[in-house]
Amino acid sequence: MKIGILNGPNLNLLGQREPEIYGKDGFETYLERLMEQFPDHHLSYYQSNEEGDLVNALHEMGESCDGIVFNPAAFTHTSLALGDAAKALEVPVVEVHISNVYQREGFRHKSYISPAAKGVITGLGLRGYELAIRYLLD
Ligand code: DQA
Repeated sequence: MKIGILNGPNLNLLGQREPEIYGKDGFETYLERLMEQFPDHHLSYYQSNEEGDLVNALHEMGESCDGIVFNPAAFTHTSLALGDAAKALEVPVVEVHISNVYQREGFRHKSYISPAAKGVITGLGLRGYELAIRYLLD
């Protein structure tokens, strides 16, 4: 199967950014481990800090992938455009957050993506990506 992993703004800084919240691992290092865990499947990865790029990436992954793991980062809480793009997809999307957004500020409790997502994993660290992939493969 082909799984698309899509990360939103500032997630390129994982490992450096607020490590007490997001951990000490950079995403690229984690991605290598993920690829080793799923050798029979194709994982494609894209990260952008731009909302429009992420809309385009959702459209593209919706055509080329069987499922999408999406961490929209701060756009989760603000982006109607990403919510609409996710709703238009025919393939399942699992929304992932590294931190538990419900233990954090109230503005992080609102997601424009969740109504379009098959499910949401929040607070399980980077492990959330692996669990989302396992769900999509099942
Ligand atoms: C995040 C949670 C968001 O609230 C935040 O803006 C992020 C990362 C997470 O993975 O925990 O950038 O999506």
